[in-house]
Amino acid sequence: MAEDKTILVTGGCGFIGSNFIHYILGKYRNYRIINLDKLTYCGNLDNLCEVAHHPHYTFIKGDIADREKVREILQKEKVDVIVNFAAESHVDRSIEAPDLFLRTNVLGTQVLLEGAREMEVPLFIQISTDEVYGSLGSSGLFTESTPLKPNSPYAASKAAADLLVRAYIETFGLSAIITRCSNNYGPYQFPEKLIPLMISNALEDRELPIYGDGLNVRDWIYVEDHCRALDLVLHRGKSGEVYNIGGDSERTNLQVVKTILEILGKPESLIRFVKDRPGHDRRYAMDFSKLQAELGWRPEVRFEDGIRRTINWYIDHRDWWQRIKTGEYMEYYERMYGNR
Ligand code: NAD
Ligand code: TYD
Repeated sequence: MAEDKTILVTGGCGFIGSNFIHYILGKYRNYRIINLDKLTYCGNLDNLCEVAHHPHYTFIKGDIADREKVREILQKEKVDVIVNFAAESHVDRSIEAPDLFLRTNVLGTQVLLEGAREMEVPLFIQISTDEVYGSLGSSGLFTESTPLKPNSPYAASKAAADLLVRAYIETFGLSAIITRCSNNYGPYQFPEKLIPLMISNALEDRELPIYGDGLNVRDWIYVEDHCRALDLVLHRGKSGEVYNIGGDSERTNLQVVKTILEILGKPESLIRFVKDRPGHDRRYAMDFSKLQAELGWRPEVRFEDGIRRTINWYIDHRDWWQRIKTGEYMEYYERMYGNR
């Protein structure tokens, strides 16, 4: 049995964080999880209701940019690892209002790094993204040494956070690892992102808004494969390293949307081409051979299987997304798509 560990997960009420908490509590009987989450519009306690009373799970409502709060937690608990998922994560919102992205993604990460340094936390894992590398042409892959060339305020804030992690490693000798993953999909993803937006709209026979020509390419990874990669990095990753994580599943947005419509038996006439996103990255694709060579990881869920699982989850959890698609969400939707 693995040794006991206390993991401070930040942003655990979001999409990937909640999947990660389910994964870890399901796999390691003796690990403790402390989940620090601000419960922003996309932080949802429903994502964790099955583990809310788990004896090894503690939820703390709070902001990663709150120095006192972070210090208080790290002083009280003997944390072995911080896994920083907390972020403002939606590119379109970062175009609308970049400020909050800097506060949470940059300042918040620095506050956590400072706490980790002060309290000598043995390991810090920064959950980053392929978007820090910018955009690819029709060929080639991002490697860990591809220069950072972020194009959206979201990507720039994540790149800034990565650079701070690097600085804390170099300057203060902090033990830290950065993982950069491609586009995730799966259960509990907030329905502003492409896949859950399209599935939930199609289920309600609403239009499916595709930006530009729909030929932008993303490399899709099923969230459980991401969690499995993080589990390996957490236990066997080398401090100071960056690891790319990818899905080996490049698809154009149009292919993704057509696949969803086909599985749901809905007509392609629901598709509506809308004005493109400014600065829209054309293509992301990951070279994850380092993680494969060093830790023996590769994605296991084929896109065709993962998308079916995901669609079934959204069919079975209508209440979950219908509760979200009200009030503030509908205002956002109107602002984003109303006049597009
Ligand atoms: P999400 O938006 O679903 O969840 C973010 C969570 O962070 C929410 O629970 C929110 O309440 C919380 N949060 C936001 N600001 C906070 C703050 N100041 N203090 C504490 N908690 C705060 O995001 P996600 O899709 O689960 O992404 C998680 C992480 O993974 C992010 O860092 C993101 O950049 C990264 N990432 C995401 C993807 C993807 O495809 N979704 C891909 C690569 C990397
Ligand atoms: P998104 O899920 O926002 O992830 P990211 O921009 O971080 O990759 O978008 C995925 C792709 O889908 C991206 O090329 C933008 C496109 N897209 C649409 O065409 N329509 C939409 O309504 C949304 C939200 C995204």
